[in-house]
Amino acid sequence: MEQNKHIKVGIAGVRGLSTVMGFNAMAGVEITALCDLDENVLHREGDNLNIEKQHRYRIFDDMLASDIDAVVIATPMQCHVPQAIAALEAGKHVLSEVTAGVTMDELWWLCESVEKYGKTYMMAENYMYTPQVQLVRELVRRGMFGETYYAEGAYLHNINGLFVYPDGKTSWRSFWQCGKRGAFYPTHSLGPVMQWFPGDHIAEISTFSPGVYNPYGLKQDSGTTTMCRLESGKLAQIRVDCVSPRPHNMTHYLLQGTQGCYQSAQGFGDQDKISFVSEQNPDSCMMWQALTDYNAYLPERYRNATAEQAGAGHGGGDFFLVEDFINAIRTGESPIVDVYTACEWTAVGLLSELSVVNNGRTITLPRFRKGAKLEDKIVKL
Ligand SMILES: NC(=O)c1ccc[n+]([C@@H]2O[C@H](COP(=O)([O-])OP(=O)(O)OC[C@H]3O[C@@H](n4cnc5c(N)ncnc54)[C@H](O)[C@@H]3O)[C@@H](O)[C@H]2O)c1
Repeated sequence: MEQNKHIKVGIAGVRGLSTVMGFNAMAGVEITALCDLDENVLHREGDNLNIEKQHRYRIFDDMLASDIDAVVIATPMQCHVPQAIAALEAGKHVLSEVTAGVTMDELWWLCESVEKYGKTYMMAENYMYTPQVQLVRELVRRGMFGETYYAEGAYLHNINGLFVYPDGKTSWRSFWQCGKRGAFYPTHSLGPVMQWFPGDHIAEISTFSPGVYNPYGLKQDSGTTTMCRLESGKLAQIRVDCVSPRPHNMTHYLLQGTQGCYQSAQGFGDQDKISFVSEQNPDSCMMWQALTDYNAYLPERYRNATAEQAGAGHGGGDFFLVEDFINAIRTGESPIVDVYTACEWTAVGLLSELSVVNNGRTITLPRFRKGAKLEDKIVKL
C-alpha cells in the first residue's frame, strides 16, 4: 500500500506524453524522467516538460536505475514485454501501451513477472475510457439493457502513412502490426465491449478475412472479423482494418440486450443512439433516442470533470486512465485492465493469426489467471 507516497514517474516513448496532463493534474505525482532512443525527441520533450538533463535517458535500463516509482511504456509494441519485465524486476509499477505483448510466450512471462514482483501493472487501453463507452457501461450496470448478449466493436484506421518514418526508415508497424495476418490490434474494440459483459471472459475465437488486397506489400489482411465466444456463451464480434482505403472509424460499437440496444455514430452526421423497451416504446415499434439524453447517468467523475480533464485525449479518457493507474498503486488493488485482462485481450489478436490462416478455425483461448498451471499455458488445437 502506497497511500500517501509521493510517486515519481518516468515516461518512455513519445506516445507516453498523452499521460502528462493526467499525471500533472494529480496531487503527489510528478514526472521526473524521460526516455527515448531518439536524442532530438528526448531533448525537445525534456525541455517542454522541464525534465532535468540528468534525468533524460536514451537507454531504458538507465532510467530504471533512477529513483522513479513507476514507468509509462509507450515504445513500439515489441519492446513492451521486455521493458515491462525489466521495470517490474527493478521494483517499478508499469503502465504499458497497447498491446500487452507480441507473442503468447511473452504474455505468460509478463503474468509471471507481475506475480513474482508484486507491483502494479496496467495496460493503457484508452478507448474504454471515452465518455460514451463509460455511459453505456453505467446503463449496463443499472440493468437498463436487461441481459446483454451480443456486441460489436470495430477499429477502422487506415495507417498507410505510418509504415515508413519521415527519414525513410521502415517503422515497427510494418512488422508487428501489419507484417502479419490476423486481428493484430484488438484492444481498442475489446476494451469497450468487454466492459459491457462484467465478469465474463473470452473462451474461444474464430477469425475470417476477405484476403490480402493491400497495395503496400504487407502480409496484413484487408480487414479481419473475429467472433469471440464468451464463457457465458454470449458473442462479441470485432473488426480490425488498418490497410483499406476509407475514412477512419475507430469507435464503431453495437450492444444488444433483452431490453434495449446501443449503436455508435457511423460518421457523416450520425450520432450515438440508444433504444430501450418501455410502455411508450414497445419492442414492436422501437425508436432511437440520442445517447446524450442519458448524460445524467454518466459516472460522477465524468460529469464533474474540469475543462482541463475533459480536454485530455479521447474525450477526457486519457485523464481518467491515469487516475485509475495511480489509484491502483496507492490502494494496492487490481487496476481495471490488470495483467490477466490485458493478456486475454492481446491473445485474441495473437491467436487470430492461427485462426485466419486455417480458414476461421476455432481456437480456444487459454485462461490468464493467477497461478495458471503449465498445461494451461499451451495453445491446444
Ligand atoms: N492507445 C492509443 O491510442 C495509441 C495511439 C498511438 C500509439 N499507441 C501505442 O504507442 C506505442 C508507440 O507507438 P508510436 O506510434 O508512438 O510509435 P513511434 O514509432 O512513432 O514512436 C516510438 C518512440 O519510441 C522511441 N523508442 C523506440 N524504441 C525505444 C526503446 N527501446 N527505448 C526508448 N525509446 C524507444 C522512438 O525513438 C520513438 O520516439 C505503440 O505500442 C502503439 O501501439 C497507442
